[in-house]
Amino acid sequence: MSSAVVIPAAGLGLRLGGETPKAFREVGGDSLLVHAVRGLKAATAADLDCFVVAVPPGAEEAVGKELEPYVGDARLLVVAGGAERPDSVRAALDVVPFDGIDCILVHDAARAFVPAAVIERVVEAVRSGAQAVVPVVPVTDTIKRVGPTGDVIDTPDRSTLVAVQTPQGFAPDVLRRAHAAGLVGATDDAMMCERLGVTVTTVEGSPDAFKVTRPQDLLLAEALLAERRL
Ligand code: CTP
Ligand code: MG
Repeated sequence: MSSAVVIPAAGLGLRLGGETPKAFREVGGDSLLVHAVRGLKAATAADLDCFVVAVPPGAEEAVGKELEPYVGDARLLVVAGGAERPDSVRAALDVVPFDGIDCILVHDAARAFVPAAVIERVVEAVRSGAQAVVPVVPVTDTIKRVGPTGDVIDTPDRSTLVAVQTPQGFAPDVLRRAHAAGLVGATDDAMMCERLGVTVTTVEGSPDAFKVTRPQDLLLAEALLAERRL
């Protein structure tokens, strides 16, 4: 049994700001991408033996050298990402060696601090027969739907809402079919599977799997790391 992981890390991080693309911003002396890879390696029960990373075009070689020490015996492939996240995931999927893989994960470099237990829960669910699996946490804000004028349309019952994290896990063929279908406007990979009629299963996520998106998220990341290093 072995798994592969695709890591989209080719975004610019416009909401975070700064000169450096987000995946290469440092927290506690290491880039978010290095933290993410280290976290995936720590999930030993996931048996990850292939890492495919999509990076900004031109950065492939440098990132390959930077990550080599962190992947151990696993295979590492670095490809140029695309204009939007799904393009980056697709570019990575194109080079995944699918032979002998029973689970494929897609994990945002920006969710650099996901606990090993979450990763292992996702892989375990796929190995138990789930076609598509997402880690989720309860929504803490009240969510409203708004129309084009900004007026509220309605308020969905919060008890039926969850926030979705990564890694998302898939039966390899399902993810390939989902991306081959070329659905536009999907904001995550599970959504592409939903549109194919595939059942998406949930497992418990973690607040630590937050996505570094805005400047204050870097402060949270620094604090989390400092606590873990105590
Ligand atoms: N990503 C990618 N290729 C893109 C866009 C995003 O690989 N063309 C990756 C990011 O590097 C990140 C993940 O997808 O790891 C989640 O995306 P997001 O948090 O939106 O990151 P950015 O697109 O970099 O940030 P922003 O939207 O603020 O510019
Ligand atoms: Mg983005």
